[in-house]
Amino acid sequence: MSPRLIVVSNRVSVPKSKRPVPGGLAVGILAALQGSGGLWYGWNGRVESAVSVERSRLGPIEFVTRSLTPEAYEGYYLGYANRVLWPLFHLRLNLVEYQRRFFEAYLAMNVQMAEDVARLAAADDLIWVHDYHCIPLGRKLRKLGLANPLGFFLHIPFPPYDVFRAVPDHKTLLKYFFAYDLIGFQTRLDRDSFLDTVLRILPDVELGSDGLIYKDHEVKVGVFPIGIDYENIRRDVETAKRSTLIRRLQQNLAGRKLITGVDRLDYSKGLAQRFQAFDHFLERHLDHRENVVFMQVAQPSRSDVPEYQAIRDELDYLAGKINGRYAQFDRIPLRYLNRSFSRPTILGFLALSDIGLITPLRDGMNLVAKEFVAAQDPDDPGVLILSRLAGAAEQLKDALLVTPYNIDGVAEALDYALRMSRDERIERHRALDEQVRAYTVEDWARDFVAHLA
Ligand code: F6P
Repeated sequence: MSPRLIVVSNRVSVPKSKRPVPGGLAVGILAALQGSGGLWYGWNGRVESAVSVERSRLGPIEFVTRSLTPEAYEGYYLGYANRVLWPLFHLRLNLVEYQRRFFEAYLAMNVQMAEDVARLAAADDLIWVHDYHCIPLGRKLRKLGLANPLGFFLHIPFPPYDVFRAVPDHKTLLKYFFAYDLIGFQTRLDRDSFLDTVLRILPDVELGSDGLIYKDHEVKVGVFPIGIDYENIRRDVETAKRSTLIRRLQQNLAGRKLITGVDRLDYSKGLAQRFQAFDHFLERHLDHRENVVFMQVAQPSRSDVPEYQAIRDELDYLAGKINGRYAQFDRIPLRYLNRSFSRPTILGFLALSDIGLITPLRDGMNLVAKEFVAAQDPDDPGVLILSRLAGAAEQLKDALLVTPYNIDGVAEALDYALRMSRDERIERHRALDEQVRAYTVEDWARDFVAHLA
């Protein structure tokens, strides 16, 4: 019998309703656990003075979730994870709000999580830790005496040395990585940034054949680009296309072209620049004003972080400005949907779209880009406009790759995509679809676990 897999991440999404599962991390972890079964430990999203722990089971997956105290929520989650590491790793040094107490809360929470995991783990379990919230967790587990195979996967980008060293705790943080046996990154660029950073900051570390050697311990370092659940998405798309809601949207479009973006409402997603590019596009292309609709879904996220409130205000302003300028009594060019939708509905939106406009300023992978590709009709596919600063661009080279800061460039790409011949659309889509199919989320999970085992 193969060993049990224990997955640890900050947030656990117990799939109990049609509510959207937020982000690639949750989709990936569920895929990893669906096959072989196992246990998923993490936060249930609640904040309570007295911590409560819940256990539940769904098919082969056992969920163990806990709440956070107000102090941990503020210092560990909002503070160090989302006001220090998130902006730092997304190259937004000006948004880093460093406080030493945030780092202390981050370490304290990792100790608590490690204690919980140590109680749950048996000697031969494989333990797979996910994302920037939990970098120190491996070391804390080792300190508690666990000798299990320990893996770590970073879902977000790893910054270059010069950015990473701006955080006062850079050396300590980096050393924590060496408690793991396997470290995975989304792209070659992230892996290379990590290796370069380590070699510059930790002089005792040597480059090994597949990773790094530190004090006689070899840590394997690999690239595992997360994928999508291709076959299920294809099935869900067919169902979604027949749903009342998607038919309503189709009727409502009345032949106009649909441009779609789907993101968490996060400053890393480049939504303000995207709105400006759309504004610019409408200004320059009078011929398109009548025949396009841009629908941006922006799922509210981390709204207790001030920088997220600021980006929300900015987008409200820009959306009002664009619609104020171009709306007619019977049509609104920008549909800004500041809310979440079920996964099937999102897939339906993507399937109906002529253009997927995915232009993050920096992104670990961006699975919406891959989902857009999978949702297209191969005989009459839409065009993917993708930021070259998204991890997905390392694989999806046949998209129209843009620099999200280049407002003119994105506006031109929109015009080009709308005029693209069917032959070119089919050819580009065929190449993209091959990429997306070639390494699915199941392959990603299997591959990482096999390397760890
Ligand atoms: O993919 C990055 C990530 O931070 C995940 O770790 C997380 O599950 C997701 O985005 C959603 O973020 P949050 O848990 O802060 O709402």
